[in-house]
Amino acid sequence: MTPTRTFTLLDENSQLLCELPVLKGTIGPDVIDVQALYKNTGMFTYDPGFTSTASCSSDITYIDGEKGILLYRGYPIEQLAKRGIFLEVCYLLLYDELPTADELTAFEQNITMHTMVHDQLTNFFKGFRRDAHPMAIMVGVVGALSAFYHDALDITSKKDRDLSAIRLIAKVPTIVAMCYKYSIGLPFMYPNNKLSYVENFMRMMFATPCDDYVPNPVLVDALERILILHADHEQNASTSTVRLAGSSGANPYACITAGIACLWGAAHGGANEAVLNMLKQIGDVSEIPKFIARAKDKNDSFRLMGFGHRVYKNYDPRAKLMRATCYEVLEELGLHDDKLFKLALELERFALEDPYFIEKKLYPNVDFYSGIVLHALGIPTNMFTAIFAMGRTIGWIAHWDEMISDPEQRIGRPRQLFVGATPRDLPPQHR
Ligand code: ACO
Repeated sequence: MTPTRTFTLLDENSQLLCELPVLKGTIGPDVIDVQALYKNTGMFTYDPGFTSTASCSSDITYIDGEKGILLYRGYPIEQLAKRGIFLEVCYLLLYDELPTADELTAFEQNITMHTMVHDQLTNFFKGFRRDAHPMAIMVGVVGALSAFYHDALDITSKKDRDLSAIRLIAKVPTIVAMCYKYSIGLPFMYPNNKLSYVENFMRMMFATPCDDYVPNPVLVDALERILILHADHEQNASTSTVRLAGSSGANPYACITAGIACLWGAAHGGANEAVLNMLKQIGDVSEIPKFIARAKDKNDSFRLMGFGHRVYKNYDPRAKLMRATCYEVLEELGLHDDKLFKLALELERFALEDPYFIEKKLYPNVDFYSGIVLHALGIPTNMFTAIFAMGRTIGWIAHWDEMISDPEQRIGRPRQLFVGATPRDLPPQHR
């Protein structure tokens, strides 16, 4: 990247401290390149939560949070969601461009051939309690993949990286479904190569060896869309975690596991589960004002889950699409009067009219409506974040691959503002 201009830093006496290059992306705000700051001034920048820091350059996903725009490789999320083919989006995120029809078929076949997991991996599940949270099992089992697929762990080899990417996209849904089956004490279902990616996942979730499951096309489309909407979101917490883990040269399975662990938090991917629990807790429209008041009370830790976003200061475009998907799914299932959906719509209306939420630009995010769709699909609440992880795996792996291929890549190593004790000697009795 060639700097377009410089940013001049002066000290308190207006003396030149240093000049920093300003970099221009294809769209979005300019970026001050502070790499030479410490060398030239002996100072670091201080930015807890990275609110003003670009940690890398990337050409995968672009968000304009003020306008509510989300693009994958330049394509608007609305258009990709309308086409509704998750594996097409995976190809786009992984290989930069949309696939031709033949490329997509070959990609789908490749993924299909890798959906089974090593049979010995099933032993891992037996080590977990049946009531373990699915994300706890995901962290353990996805992490274990590097112990099974170490034939292709040379991260400097594009061929190995591609194979690991295919294996992760293919096997994560199998593992998610296994988490569910294990939790309810039913046998694992093998993948079926005749089915599409999403149909296959739904069958592994809901079929049993005694009863087959014929996926409903409307529900399949809804899940395709959910996965597309969750596929990537530039440098969010879990993706940054994957990049940071990968920057040391860790293997892709370990890095994706780090992402899964980060995603689990309620401020991130755990919010979809938290939203549904919150709606159940609110219980009735008449209780909404009480919960809105609690969300605004600084002495109360309660937050309106599914509301607010670090980047979006406008309606999250994914939430709009998710709300539309809610209508479609509930209509298909004859659940027009779904209590939770009605409650969610009312809660959204109340919040969007409230001066606190208006002033702080707090809008529904993707998690606000996704739980209602997943609930309607028959997916239990504690599985929601695992479904998010299934969709986000492609984003994590695309960013990991981009980072490894970046000639500017170095180990991620933030600095700190030290506020602890200055040097002192041990007391005599401790010497
Ligand atoms: N309910 C009530 N108040 C809120 C909410 C909320 N959901 N979100 C933010 N605020 C308030 C904060 O109290 C803060 O107020 P203050 O300025 O008076 O201190 C202000 O809005 C800014 O909030 P921050 O937490 O500083 O914003 P940040 O960008 O750090 O956090 C986050 C964003 C974590 C998403 C936050 O909005 C939140 O906790 N939301 C609820 C959890 C959630 O839905 N997470 C999913 C995010 S999307 C995703 O990961 C897929």
